[in-house]
Amino acid sequence: MLTRVVLALCCVAAALADTPANCLYEDVRGTWTFSETERTGDHTINCDELGPIAHTKTFTLSFPNVAKDELNNEGTWTMIYNQGFEVNINERSYFAFSYYEGDMDSAVSYCDRTFNGWSRDKTVRNWSCYTAQKHNTTTPRMTHNLKKASSTQLYKNDHKMIEEINASQSSWWAKAYPQHERYTVEEMIKRAGGHRFSLPKPAPATQEQKDRVRLLPENFDWRDVDGVDFVSDVGDQAACGSCYIFASMGMLEARVRIATRNQRQDVFSPQDVLSCSVLSQGCDGGFPYLIAGRYAQEQGVVAEECNPYTAKDEECDTDMSCSRTYVSEYEYVGGYYGACNEELMMLALVETGPLTVAFEVYDDFHGYSGGIYHHTDSGNGFNPLEVVNHAVLLVGYGVEAETGEKFWSVKNSWGGSWGEEGYFRIRRGTDECGMESAAFGATIIP
Ligand SMILES: *[C@@H]1O[C@H](CO)[C@@H](O)[C@H](O)[C@H]1NC(C)=O
Ligand SMILES: *[C@@H]1O[C@H](CO)[C@@H](O)[C@H](O)[C@H]1NC(C)=O
Ligand SMILES: *[C@@H]1O[C@H](CO)[C@@H](O)[C@H](O)[C@H]1NC(C)=O
Repeated sequence: MLTRVVLALCCVAAALADTPANCLYEDVRGTWTFSETERTGDHTINCDELGPIAHTKTFTLSFPNVAKDELNNEGTWTMIYNQGFEVNINERSYFAFSYYEGDMDSAVSYCDRTFNGWSRDKTVRNWSCYTAQKHNTTTPRMTHNLKKASSTQLYKNDHKMIEEINASQSSWWAKAYPQHERYTVEEMIKRAGGHRFSLPKPAPATQEQKDRVRLLPENFDWRDVDGVDFVSDVGDQAACGSCYIFASMGMLEARVRIATRNQRQDVFSPQDVLSCSVLSQGCDGGFPYLIAGRYAQEQGVVAEECNPYTAKDEECDTDMSCSRTYVSEYEYVGGYYGACNEELMMLALVETGPLTVAFEVYDDFHGYSGGIYHHTDSGNGFNPLEVVNHAVLLVGYGVEAETGEKFWSVKNSWGGSWGEEGYFRIRRGTDECGMESAAFGATIIP
């Protein structure tokens, strides 16, 4: 029964999926009416059809992350990129994707309303469906060609660009990866994130944050904390846009290891999320906040064997007898989307464990083979892969001994033979490619 319901949800999500919505903070900030059905469902609830409305709530969402109801009870809210928003108030949590019509070629976002979303209490037992309508209307926003270069031609390494990268600077170096030529240009775009939207600017650091950072070690890495490694092996997402799931599972795997001092060394199933979550757009992308956060809190994650990775959007056939691992809390670093910065990332990394991060992948990044990456203008300005947002796992930071260059250490999901054994380092402190804009962490229940 459970399987069948989840399956039905999965296919609807695939239809709504790939969301081309482009809703901004200012569109969502304001007063909303939430129309909610009876609170009689459980975690298998199907919100395709809304059903009779039993509760009508008025929530005012204001700067920076304060939500209030009509009685002035306070809660919090956050954007999830430009795709939707979550409200946590009165012991309930609400999430819905922002409404749009159209597809990745051409869409109109109506940011003053949502698709049907999911509401449940904090204990995740008592579920309902809802839809939200903003009191003040927003101007519909058009988007075009979100997936311009959907070329089915095979990707070719750009040897000239690789030489240029090596010649133009000495911070990092590139090489040609023969395995990339197995993929089409479209698949390479998916591997790099698939979605394309601008990331927020980091929030300015306060004096208190700077003072706390001064007490941290100069170099830190969860792969080597006094000789102990808490990070699981590097995965390979293959031709599927599942980076956000690999980053999410990598964070949960590391955090289980940290919480149990390596007594548990789980490897979680990305395919379970890919096939079974209504909060994911499958191989077309998604968001760690909704996966390592909301999905892991609501449905839990399972071991890889319970649904082995196929790198394809498939029907949900997770072995439902498998035990599930949950998270208790989750939040963007800083408390909401838009509050992140270098200092808070360093503190959260050391104090709580690896974090998912997003950054912009430019063409030059694919050939990265070592060193401290920063975006170069190499490659004739020709960029067949366009700029996309890629989710990865932050595991450490440091300062290069010879040059004094500050860096982040990051786990990618392009296999262990890419970069520095599957990892890369990237410039720190300058929001390189948006790296310091949207880090995210969840608290595991081991
Ligand atoms: C959910 O909570 C409401 C009160 O908010 C209660 O009336 C209802 O019985 C609960 N439903 C379930 C399934 O626990
Ligand atoms: C909403 O609209 C009303 C009336 O047009 C206006 O006075 C108010 O400032 C608007 N509120 C916001 C948050 O834009
Ligand atoms: C670039 O430099 C790296 C490291 O020195 C080297 O392995 C690679 O072969 C070089 N590639 C080219 C095309 O110069």
